Amino acid sequence: MASLNDLVHILLLSCSLMIFNTGCMADSLSHPPPAVKSAYYPSWLSDDFPPSAINTSFFTHIFYAFLVPNDVTFKFDLSNSTDLLLSNFTTTLHHKHPPVKTLLSLGGGGDDPELPKIFARMASEPSSRSHFIHSAIEVARKFGFDGLDLDWEFPQSPKEMKDLGHLLKEWRHALKKEAQSTARPPLLLTAAVYFSADFFLANVRRSYPMPHMNKYLDWINAMCFDYNGAWSNTTGPNAALLDPKSNVNSIYGLRSWIKAGIPPKKLVMGLPLYGRTWELKDPNNHSIGATAVGPGPGGGQLSFHQVETLLNQSGATVVYDVDTITVYSFNGSSLVSFDDAFTTTSKIGYAQALGLRGYFFWALTYDSDWKISAQASNSWILDE
Ligand SMILES: *[C@@H]1O[C@H](CO)[C@@H](O)[C@H](O)[C@H]1NC(C)=O
Ligand SMILES: *[C@@H]1O[C@H](CO)[C@@H](O)[C@H](O)[C@H]1NC(C)=O
Ligand SMILES: *[C@@H]1O[C@H](CO)[C@@H](O)[C@H](O)[C@H]1NC(C)=O
Ligand SMILES: *[C@@H]1O[C@H](CO)[C@@H](O)[C@H](O)[C@H]1NC(C)=O
Ligand SMILES: *[C@@H]1O[C@H](CO)[C@@H](O)[C@H](O)[C@H]1NC(C)=O
Ligand SMILES: *[C@@H]1O[C@H](CO)[C@@H](O)[C@H](O)[C@H]1NC(C)=O
Ligand SMILES: *[C@@H]1O[C@H](CO)[C@@H](O)[C@H](O)[C@H]1NC(C)=O
Repeated sequence: MASLNDLVHILLLSCSLMIFNTGCMADSLSHPPPAVKSAYYPSWLSDDFPPSAINTSFFTHIFYAFLVPNDVTFKFDLSNSTDLLLSNFTTTLHHKHPPVKTLLSLGGGGDDPELPKIFARMASEPSSRSHFIHSAIEVARKFGFDGLDLDWEFPQSPKEMKDLGHLLKEWRHALKKEAQSTARPPLLLTAAVYFSADFFLANVRRSYPMPHMNKYLDWINAMCFDYNGAWSNTTGPNAALLDPKSNVNSIYGLRSWIKAGIPPKKLVMGLPLYGRTWELKDPNNHSIGATAVGPGPGGGQLSFHQVETLLNQSGATVVYDVDTITVYSFNGSSLVSFDDAFTTTSKIGYAQALGLRGYFFWALTYDSDWKISAQASNSWILDE
Protein backbone atom coordinates (compact mmCIF):
# COMPACT_ATOMS: atom_id res chain seq x y z
CA MET A 1 0.00 0.00 0.00
CA ALA A 2 1.42 3.34 -1.00
CA SER A 3 1.13 6.45 1.06
CA LEU A 4 -0.48 9.57 -0.31
CA ASN A 5 2.99 11.17 -0.47
CA ASP A 6 4.33 8.43 -2.75
CA LEU A 7 1.34 8.90 -4.96
CA VAL A 8 1.78 12.67 -5.18
CA HIS A 9 5.43 12.19 -6.05
CA ILE A 10 4.69 9.70 -8.83
CA LEU A 11 1.94 11.88 -10.22
CA LEU A 12 4.08 15.00 -10.35
CA LEU A 13 6.86 13.06 -12.05
CA SER A 14 4.62 11.54 -14.69
CA CYS A 15 2.72 14.78 -15.31
CA SER A 16 5.92 16.67 -15.99
CA LEU A 17 7.10 13.94 -18.38
CA MET A 18 3.81 14.05 -20.22
CA ILE A 19 3.85 17.80 -20.69
CA PHE A 20 7.11 17.56 -22.57
CA ASN A 21 5.87 14.63 -24.61
CA THR A 22 2.64 16.07 -25.91
CA GLY A 23 3.61 19.51 -27.08
CA CYS A 24 0.94 21.21 -25.03
CA MET A 25 3.32 24.14 -24.45
CA ALA A 26 3.13 24.94 -28.14
CA ASP A 27 -0.64 24.48 -28.14
CA SER A 28 -1.17 27.07 -25.47
CA LEU A 29 0.37 29.75 -27.70
CA SER A 30 -2.51 29.57 -30.18
CA HIS A 31 -6.06 30.41 -29.10
CA PRO A 32 -7.67 27.30 -27.68
CA PRO A 33 -11.44 27.23 -27.23
CA PRO A 34 -12.64 27.81 -23.64
CA ALA A 35 -12.48 24.83 -21.30
CA VAL A 36 -15.49 22.56 -20.89
CA LYS A 37 -16.28 21.80 -17.24
CA SER A 38 -19.47 19.84 -17.45
CA ALA A 39 -21.79 17.26 -15.94
CA TYR A 40 -24.84 15.23 -16.87
CA TYR A 41 -28.00 15.89 -14.87
CA PRO A 42 -30.05 12.68 -14.34
CA SER A 43 -33.58 14.00 -14.81
CA TRP A 44 -35.16 10.98 -13.08
CA LEU A 45 -33.66 12.25 -9.80
CA SER A 46 -35.31 15.66 -10.13
CA ASP A 47 -37.73 15.11 -7.20
CA ASP A 48 -34.79 14.90 -4.80
CA PHE A 49 -32.50 17.19 -6.75
CA PRO A 50 -34.43 19.82 -8.72
CA PRO A 51 -32.61 22.09 -11.19
CA SER A 52 -32.79 24.88 -8.60
CA ALA A 53 -30.39 22.86 -6.38
CA ILE A 54 -27.60 22.99 -8.97
CA ASN A 55 -24.71 25.28 -8.08
CA THR A 56 -23.53 26.50 -11.48
CA SER A 57 -20.24 27.93 -10.13
CA PHE A 58 -18.46 24.68 -10.93
CA PHE A 59 -19.63 24.15 -14.51
CA THR A 60 -19.65 25.70 -17.96
CA HIS A 61 -22.12 23.22 -19.52
CA ILE A 62 -24.81 20.95 -18.09
CA PHE A 63 -26.37 18.08 -20.04
CA TYR A 64 -29.99 17.12 -19.41
CA ALA A 65 -30.09 13.29 -19.35
CA PHE A 66 -32.00 11.94 -21.29
CA LEU A 67 -34.71 12.06 -23.91
CA VAL A 68 -35.48 8.98 -26.01
CA PRO A 69 -37.15 9.12 -29.42
CA ASN A 70 -40.35 7.26 -30.28
CA ASP A 71 -39.42 3.81 -31.58
CA VAL A 72 -41.61 4.10 -34.68
CA THR A 73 -41.62 7.78 -35.71
CA PHE A 74 -38.14 8.56 -34.26
CA LYS A 75 -39.53 11.89 -33.07
CA PHE A 76 -39.71 13.08 -29.47
CA ASP A 77 -43.11 12.74 -27.80
CA LEU A 78 -43.01 14.69 -24.56
CA SER A 79 -45.33 13.96 -21.68
CA ASN A 80 -46.66 16.94 -19.75
CA SER A 81 -44.35 16.22 -16.84
CA THR A 82 -41.29 16.03 -19.10
CA ASP A 83 -42.39 19.24 -20.75
CA LEU A 84 -42.54 20.93 -17.36
CA LEU A 85 -39.15 19.64 -16.23
CA LEU A 86 -37.39 20.61 -19.47
CA SER A 87 -38.74 24.10 -19.24
CA ASN A 88 -37.86 24.33 -15.54
CA PHE A 89 -34.33 23.06 -16.25
CA THR A 90 -33.38 25.56 -18.94
CA THR A 91 -35.19 28.52 -17.38
CA THR A 92 -33.66 27.87 -13.96
CA LEU A 93 -30.13 27.35 -15.26
CA HIS A 94 -30.13 30.30 -17.62
CA HIS A 95 -31.09 32.59 -14.76
CA LYS A 96 -28.41 31.30 -12.39
CA HIS A 97 -25.16 33.09 -11.62
CA PRO A 98 -22.90 32.32 -13.23
CA PRO A 99 -25.02 31.19 -16.20
CA VAL A 100 -24.22 27.85 -17.83
CA LYS A 101 -24.92 26.48 -21.26
CA THR A 102 -27.41 23.64 -21.46
CA LEU A 103 -27.39 20.65 -23.78
CA LEU A 104 -30.15 18.12 -24.31
CA SER A 105 -28.74 14.59 -24.30
CA LEU A 106 -30.52 12.00 -26.41
CA GLY A 107 -30.37 8.28 -25.64
CA GLY A 108 -28.44 7.06 -22.62
CA GLY A 109 -26.75 3.99 -21.23
CA GLY A 110 -29.65 2.49 -19.31
CA ASP A 111 -30.61 -1.15 -19.13
CA ASP A 112 -33.07 -1.06 -22.03
CA PRO A 113 -31.62 -3.28 -24.78
CA GLU A 114 -34.14 -1.76 -27.24
CA LEU A 115 -32.58 1.69 -27.09
CA PRO A 116 -29.47 1.01 -29.21
CA LYS A 117 -31.73 -0.80 -31.68
CA ILE A 118 -33.99 2.25 -31.98
CA PHE A 119 -30.94 4.36 -32.84
CA ALA A 120 -29.74 1.76 -35.32
CA ARG A 121 -33.08 1.71 -37.14
CA MET A 122 -33.36 5.50 -37.08
CA ALA A 123 -29.85 5.99 -38.51
CA SER A 124 -30.30 3.39 -41.26
CA GLU A 125 -32.62 5.48 -43.50
CA PRO A 126 -32.42 9.09 -44.73
CA SER A 127 -36.10 9.75 -43.94
CA SER A 128 -35.94 8.50 -40.35
CA ARG A 129 -32.68 10.37 -39.77
CA SER A 130 -34.39 13.51 -40.97
CA HIS A 131 -37.40 13.02 -38.66
CA PHE A 132 -35.11 12.47 -35.69
CA ILE A 133 -32.86 15.44 -36.47
CA HIS A 134 -35.69 17.89 -37.02
CA SER A 135 -37.61 16.78 -33.96
CA ALA A 136 -34.45 17.09 -31.82
CA ILE A 137 -33.81 20.62 -33.09
CA GLU A 138 -37.44 21.58 -32.53
CA VAL A 139 -37.39 20.38 -28.90
CA ALA A 140 -34.02 22.02 -28.20
CA ARG A 141 -35.22 25.38 -29.55
CA LYS A 142 -38.64 25.17 -27.91
CA PHE A 143 -37.04 24.92 -24.46
CA GLY A 144 -34.05 27.18 -25.11
CA PHE A 145 -31.24 24.62 -24.99
CA ASP A 146 -27.83 25.65 -26.35
CA GLY A 147 -27.08 22.30 -27.90
CA LEU A 148 -27.77 18.62 -28.51
CA ASP A 149 -25.80 15.58 -27.40
CA LEU A 150 -26.08 12.09 -28.87
CA ASP A 151 -25.59 9.25 -26.38
CA TRP A 152 -25.95 6.13 -28.54
CA GLU A 153 -24.47 3.25 -26.50
CA PHE A 154 -23.31 1.83 -28.82
CA PRO A 155 -23.40 1.34 -32.55
CA GLN A 156 -23.02 -2.45 -32.78
CA SER A 157 -21.50 -3.07 -36.21
CA PRO A 158 -19.41 -1.44 -38.94
CA LYS A 159 -22.68 -0.76 -40.79
CA GLU A 160 -24.14 1.09 -37.79
CA MET A 161 -20.93 3.10 -37.44
CA LYS A 162 -21.25 4.12 -41.08
CA ASP A 163 -24.88 5.15 -40.49
CA LEU A 164 -23.73 7.22 -37.51
CA GLY A 165 -21.44 9.07 -39.91
CA HIS A 166 -24.38 9.88 -42.22
CA LEU A 167 -26.44 10.99 -39.24
CA LEU A 168 -23.78 13.41 -38.00
CA LYS A 169 -23.23 14.90 -41.44
CA GLU A 170 -26.93 15.52 -42.04
CA TRP A 171 -27.41 16.77 -38.48
CA ARG A 172 -24.66 19.39 -38.81
CA HIS A 173 -26.07 20.47 -42.15
CA ALA A 174 -29.53 20.88 -40.59
CA LEU A 175 -28.10 22.86 -37.64
CA LYS A 176 -26.34 25.28 -39.98
CA LYS A 177 -29.44 25.76 -42.09
CA GLU A 178 -31.65 26.29 -39.06
CA ALA A 179 -29.21 28.83 -37.58
CA GLN A 180 -29.09 30.76 -40.88
CA SER A 181 -32.83 30.80 -41.35
CA THR A 182 -33.53 31.93 -37.79
CA ALA A 183 -30.45 34.20 -37.46
CA ARG A 184 -29.50 32.52 -34.17
CA PRO A 185 -26.21 30.97 -33.07
CA PRO A 186 -26.17 27.33 -34.19
CA LEU A 187 -26.96 24.68 -31.59
CA LEU A 188 -23.90 22.82 -30.31
CA LEU A 189 -23.62 19.18 -31.32
CA THR A 190 -21.68 16.69 -29.15
CA ALA A 191 -21.61 12.93 -28.63
CA ALA A 192 -20.83 10.59 -25.75
CA VAL A 193 -18.60 7.74 -26.91
CA TYR A 194 -16.80 4.61 -25.73
CA PHE A 195 -13.59 5.30 -23.80
CA SER A 196 -11.41 3.75 -26.51
CA ALA A 197 -11.40 4.46 -30.23
CA ASP A 198 -9.64 1.26 -31.26
CA PHE A 199 -11.38 -1.56 -29.44
CA PHE A 200 -14.61 -2.50 -27.72
CA LEU A 201 -14.48 -4.97 -24.85
CA ALA A 202 -17.57 -6.62 -26.35
CA ASN A 203 -16.58 -8.75 -29.28
CA VAL A 204 -17.78 -7.13 -32.54
CA ARG A 205 -14.94 -5.22 -34.22
CA ARG A 206 -16.01 -1.77 -35.33
CA SER A 207 -14.64 1.74 -35.25
CA TYR A 208 -16.25 5.15 -35.07
CA PRO A 209 -16.50 7.16 -38.33
CA MET A 210 -13.53 9.37 -37.41
CA PRO A 211 -13.54 11.99 -40.18
CA HIS A 212 -17.26 12.57 -39.53
CA MET A 213 -16.79 12.68 -35.75
CA ASN A 214 -14.07 15.28 -36.16
CA LYS A 215 -15.77 17.38 -38.80
CA TYR A 216 -19.36 17.52 -37.55
CA LEU A 217 -19.14 17.45 -33.75
CA ASP A 218 -18.19 20.37 -31.52
CA TRP A 219 -16.59 17.93 -29.12
CA ILE A 220 -16.63 14.30 -27.99
CA ASN A 221 -17.33 13.07 -24.45
CA ALA A 222 -15.21 9.95 -23.87
CA MET A 223 -16.80 7.79 -21.18
CA CYS A 224 -13.67 6.94 -19.16
CA PHE A 225 -15.34 4.68 -16.58
CA ASP A 226 -17.20 1.37 -16.06
CA TYR A 227 -14.03 -0.61 -16.77
CA ASN A 228 -14.89 -3.13 -14.03
CA GLY A 229 -18.00 -3.82 -12.01
CA ALA A 230 -20.09 -6.52 -10.39
CA TRP A 231 -20.29 -8.21 -13.81
CA SER A 232 -16.55 -9.05 -13.51
CA ASN A 233 -15.62 -12.08 -11.37
CA THR A 234 -12.76 -10.18 -9.81
CA THR A 235 -12.48 -6.72 -8.33
CA GLY A 236 -10.95 -4.01 -10.51
CA PRO A 237 -10.83 -0.25 -10.87
CA ASN A 238 -14.03 1.40 -12.11
CA ALA A 239 -12.02 4.07 -13.88
CA ALA A 240 -8.27 3.38 -14.00
CA LEU A 241 -6.37 6.38 -15.30
CA LEU A 242 -3.37 4.18 -16.03
CA ASP A 243 -2.81 0.46 -15.79
CA PRO A 244 0.53 -1.25 -16.27
CA LYS A 245 -1.27 -4.56 -16.91
CA SER A 246 -4.02 -3.64 -19.35
CA ASN A 247 -5.15 -1.27 -22.10
CA VAL A 248 -8.40 -0.78 -20.25
CA ASN A 249 -7.46 2.60 -18.85
CA SER A 250 -8.32 6.23 -19.59
CA ILE A 251 -4.93 7.38 -20.86
CA TYR A 252 -4.84 4.51 -23.33
CA GLY A 253 -8.39 5.34 -24.45
CA LEU A 254 -7.87 9.08 -24.81
CA ARG A 255 -4.62 8.57 -26.72
CA SER A 256 -6.39 6.13 -29.04
CA TRP A 257 -8.89 8.87 -29.94
CA ILE A 258 -6.05 11.30 -30.61
CA LYS A 259 -4.16 8.71 -32.65
CA ALA A 260 -7.33 8.11 -34.69
CA GLY A 261 -7.32 11.77 -35.73
CA ILE A 262 -9.44 13.59 -33.13
CA PRO A 263 -7.61 16.76 -32.03
CA PRO A 264 -7.14 16.89 -28.23
CA LYS A 265 -9.14 20.14 -28.15
CA LYS A 266 -12.18 18.15 -29.36
CA LEU A 267 -11.89 15.59 -26.59
CA VAL A 268 -13.53 15.80 -23.19
CA MET A 269 -12.64 13.29 -20.47
CA GLY A 270 -15.37 11.51 -18.54
CA LEU A 271 -15.00 11.30 -14.75
CA PRO A 272 -17.16 9.13 -12.48
CA LEU A 273 -18.84 10.61 -9.42
CA TYR A 274 -19.66 7.07 -8.32
CA GLY A 275 -18.01 3.83 -7.33
CA ARG A 276 -18.43 0.14 -8.17
CA THR A 277 -18.85 -2.44 -5.41
CA TRP A 278 -18.29 -6.18 -4.94
CA GLU A 279 -18.84 -8.87 -2.38
CA LEU A 280 -15.52 -10.62 -1.87
CA LYS A 281 -15.20 -14.39 -1.88
CA ASP A 282 -12.66 -14.25 0.92
CA PRO A 283 -12.74 -11.23 3.27
CA ASN A 284 -9.01 -11.71 3.79
CA ASN A 285 -8.31 -11.34 0.09
CA HIS A 286 -9.30 -7.74 -0.46
CA SER A 287 -6.96 -6.48 -3.15
CA ILE A 288 -7.63 -5.27 -6.69
CA GLY A 289 -7.92 -8.52 -8.65
CA ALA A 290 -9.33 -10.51 -5.73
CA THR A 291 -12.10 -12.99 -6.49
CA ALA A 292 -15.61 -11.59 -6.10
CA VAL A 293 -18.90 -13.43 -5.85
CA GLY A 294 -21.28 -10.62 -6.82
CA PRO A 295 -22.31 -7.02 -6.24
CA GLY A 296 -21.50 -5.34 -2.92
CA PRO A 297 -23.33 -2.45 -1.22
CA GLY A 298 -25.85 -0.52 -3.34
CA GLY A 299 -26.36 -3.45 -5.69
CA GLY A 300 -22.95 -2.86 -7.31
CA GLN A 301 -22.94 0.93 -7.62
CA LEU A 302 -22.81 3.79 -5.10
CA SER A 303 -22.73 7.53 -5.66
CA PHE A 304 -19.69 9.31 -4.24
CA HIS A 305 -21.98 10.74 -1.58
CA GLN A 306 -23.07 7.20 -0.61
CA VAL A 307 -19.46 5.99 -0.60
CA GLU A 308 -18.55 8.80 1.77
CA THR A 309 -21.47 8.00 4.04
CA LEU A 310 -20.47 4.34 4.10
CA LEU A 311 -16.84 5.16 4.87
CA ASN A 312 -17.82 7.55 7.63
CA GLN A 313 -20.00 4.88 9.23
CA SER A 314 -17.91 1.78 8.77
CA GLY A 315 -14.33 2.80 9.42
CA ALA A 316 -13.35 0.84 6.32
CA THR A 317 -9.73 0.73 5.14
CA VAL A 318 -9.06 3.15 2.28
CA VAL A 319 -6.24 2.46 -0.16
CA TYR A 320 -4.81 4.75 -2.87
CA ASP A 321 -3.89 2.53 -5.78
CA VAL A 322 -0.79 4.09 -7.32
CA ASP A 323 -0.84 1.87 -10.40
CA THR A 324 -4.29 3.00 -11.55
CA ILE A 325 -4.75 6.38 -9.77
CA THR A 326 -7.99 5.29 -8.15
CA VAL A 327 -9.12 4.61 -4.60
CA TYR A 328 -10.57 1.45 -3.14
CA SER A 329 -11.90 0.64 0.28
CA PHE A 330 -12.69 -2.62 1.98
CA ASN A 331 -14.56 -3.65 5.05
CA GLY A 332 -15.43 -7.24 5.85
CA SER A 333 -16.51 -8.85 2.63
CA SER A 334 -17.23 -5.65 0.66
CA LEU A 335 -14.92 -3.71 -1.62
CA VAL A 336 -15.61 -0.38 -3.35
CA SER A 337 -13.55 1.11 -6.22
CA PHE A 338 -14.09 4.84 -6.63
CA ASP A 339 -12.54 8.26 -7.18
CA ASP A 340 -12.24 11.00 -4.62
CA ALA A 341 -11.31 14.66 -4.99
CA PHE A 342 -7.60 13.78 -5.01
CA THR A 343 -7.67 11.12 -7.75
CA THR A 344 -10.10 13.24 -9.76
CA THR A 345 -7.86 16.29 -9.73
CA SER A 346 -4.91 14.04 -10.62
CA LYS A 347 -6.86 12.83 -13.63
CA ILE A 348 -7.60 16.42 -14.58
CA GLY A 349 -3.86 17.14 -14.48
CA TYR A 350 -3.35 14.39 -17.04
CA ALA A 351 -6.25 15.63 -19.16
CA GLN A 352 -4.58 19.03 -19.30
CA ALA A 353 -1.19 17.54 -20.07
CA LEU A 354 -2.79 15.78 -23.04
CA GLY A 355 -4.19 19.16 -24.17
CA LEU A 356 -7.84 18.11 -23.83
CA ARG A 357 -10.80 20.51 -23.99
CA GLY A 358 -12.14 19.65 -20.55
CA TYR A 359 -14.04 17.10 -18.51
CA PHE A 360 -17.53 15.91 -17.74
CA PHE A 361 -18.96 14.11 -14.74
CA TRP A 362 -21.39 11.26 -14.63
CA ALA A 363 -23.38 12.42 -12.78
CA LEU A 364 -23.91 15.84 -11.28
CA THR A 365 -26.20 14.75 -8.44
CA TYR A 366 -23.79 12.07 -7.09
CA ASP A 367 -21.27 14.46 -5.53
CA SER A 368 -21.13 15.18 -1.80
CA ASP A 369 -21.60 18.91 -1.11
CA TRP A 370 -19.92 19.73 -4.45
CA LYS A 371 -16.63 18.52 -2.96
CA ILE A 372 -15.25 16.90 -6.11
CA SER A 373 -16.94 19.32 -8.53
CA ALA A 374 -15.37 22.28 -6.73
CA GLN A 375 -11.87 20.82 -6.59
CA ALA A 376 -12.07 19.76 -10.22
CA SER A 377 -13.12 23.23 -11.31
CA ASN A 378 -10.37 24.89 -9.28
CA SER A 379 -7.70 22.50 -10.52
CA TRP A 380 -8.29 23.24 -14.21
CA ILE A 381 -5.49 25.75 -14.77
CA LEU A 382 -4.48 27.57 -18.00
CA ASP A 383 -8.17 28.38 -18.37
CA GLU A 384 -8.99 30.81 -21.18
C1 LIG B 1 -21.99 27.92 -5.04
O1 LIG B 1 -20.65 27.65 -4.71
C2 LIG B 1 -19.86 28.81 -4.58
C3 LIG B 1 -18.42 28.37 -4.42
O2 LIG B 1 -18.29 27.46 -3.36
C4 LIG B 1 -20.37 29.63 -3.40
O3 LIG B 1 -19.59 30.80 -3.27
C5 LIG B 1 -21.81 29.99 -3.65
O4 LIG B 1 -22.35 30.63 -2.52
C6 LIG B 1 -22.65 28.74 -3.96
N1 LIG B 1 -23.94 29.18 -4.44
C7 LIG B 1 -25.06 28.76 -3.89
C8 LIG B 1 -26.32 29.29 -4.49
O5 LIG B 1 -25.09 27.97 -2.96
C1 LIG C 1 -51.33 17.85 -20.88
O1 LIG C 1 -51.46 19.23 -21.16
C2 LIG C 1 -52.46 19.53 -22.10
C3 LIG C 1 -52.37 21.01 -22.48
O2 LIG C 1 -52.03 21.79 -21.38
C4 LIG C 1 -53.82 19.14 -21.51
O3 LIG C 1 -54.85 19.42 -22.43
C5 LIG C 1 -53.80 17.66 -21.18
O4 LIG C 1 -54.99 17.29 -20.53
C6 LIG C 1 -52.61 17.31 -20.29
N1 LIG C 1 -52.53 15.88 -20.17
C7 LIG C 1 -52.44 15.26 -19.02
C8 LIG C 1 -52.35 13.77 -19.08
O5 LIG C 1 -52.43 15.85 -17.96
C1 LIG D 1 -38.96 25.10 -11.15
O1 LIG D 1 -39.54 24.16 -10.25
C2 LIG D 1 -39.42 24.54 -8.89
C3 LIG D 1 -39.98 23.40 -8.05
O2 LIG D 1 -39.12 22.32 -8.10
C4 LIG D 1 -40.16 25.84 -8.63
O3 LIG D 1 -39.99 26.23 -7.30
C5 LIG D 1 -39.59 26.91 -9.55
O4 LIG D 1 -40.35 28.09 -9.42
C6 LIG D 1 -39.62 26.45 -11.01
N1 LIG D 1 -38.90 27.44 -11.79
C7 LIG D 1 -39.23 27.75 -13.03
C8 LIG D 1 -38.41 28.83 -13.66
O5 LIG D 1 -40.14 27.19 -13.62
C1 LIG E 1 -17.85 -15.42 -14.04
O1 LIG E 1 -18.06 -16.69 -13.49
C2 LIG E 1 -19.18 -17.36 -14.01
C3 LIG E 1 -19.45 -18.63 -13.21
O2 LIG E 1 -18.26 -19.15 -12.73
C4 LIG E 1 -18.93 -17.62 -15.49
O3 LIG E 1 -20.04 -18.29 -16.06
C5 LIG E 1 -18.72 -16.31 -16.19
O4 LIG E 1 -18.37 -16.48 -17.53
C6 LIG E 1 -17.63 -15.51 -15.52
N1 LIG E 1 -17.61 -14.15 -16.09
C7 LIG E 1 -16.50 -13.54 -16.48
C8 LIG E 1 -16.67 -12.15 -17.02
O5 LIG E 1 -15.40 -14.05 -16.39
C1 LIG F 1 -6.43 -13.69 -3.75
O1 LIG F 1 -7.16 -13.71 -4.98
C2 LIG F 1 -6.36 -13.78 -6.11
C3 LIG F 1 -7.25 -13.68 -7.33
O2 LIG F 1 -8.36 -14.51 -7.23
C4 LIG F 1 -5.57 -15.10 -6.09
O3 LIG F 1 -4.72 -15.14 -7.22
C5 LIG F 1 -4.74 -15.15 -4.82
O4 LIG F 1 -4.11 -16.40 -4.73
C6 LIG F 1 -5.60 -14.94 -3.59
N1 LIG F 1 -4.75 -14.79 -2.42
C7 LIG F 1 -5.01 -15.38 -1.27
C8 LIG F 1 -4.06 -15.09 -0.15
O5 LIG F 1 -6.00 -16.11 -1.12
C1 LIG G 1 -17.93 12.22 6.15
O1 LIG G 1 -17.07 12.75 7.13
C2 LIG G 1 -16.34 13.91 6.71
C3 LIG G 1 -15.35 14.25 7.79
O2 LIG G 1 -15.97 14.32 9.04
C4 LIG G 1 -17.33 15.03 6.44
O3 LIG G 1 -16.65 16.17 5.97
C5 LIG G 1 -18.31 14.58 5.38
O4 LIG G 1 -19.29 15.55 5.17
C6 LIG G 1 -18.97 13.26 5.76
N1 LIG G 1 -19.73 12.83 4.61
C7 LIG G 1 -20.94 12.31 4.68
C8 LIG G 1 -21.59 12.00 3.37
O5 LIG G 1 -21.50 12.09 5.71
C1 LIG H 1 -17.82 -3.15 8.43
O1 LIG H 1 -19.10 -3.53 8.02
C2 LIG H 1 -19.88 -4.15 9.02
C3 LIG H 1 -21.20 -4.54 8.39
O2 LIG H 1 -20.98 -5.48 7.41
C4 LIG H 1 -20.05 -3.26 10.19
O3 LIG H 1 -20.78 -3.89 11.19
C5 LIG H 1 -18.71 -2.83 10.71
O4 LIG H 1 -18.87 -1.89 11.73
C6 LIG H 1 -17.89 -2.23 9.62
N1 LIG H 1 -16.61 -1.71 10.03
C7 LIG H 1 -15.53 -2.43 10.33
C8 LIG H 1 -14.31 -1.65 10.73
O5 LIG H 1 -15.53 -3.63 10.31
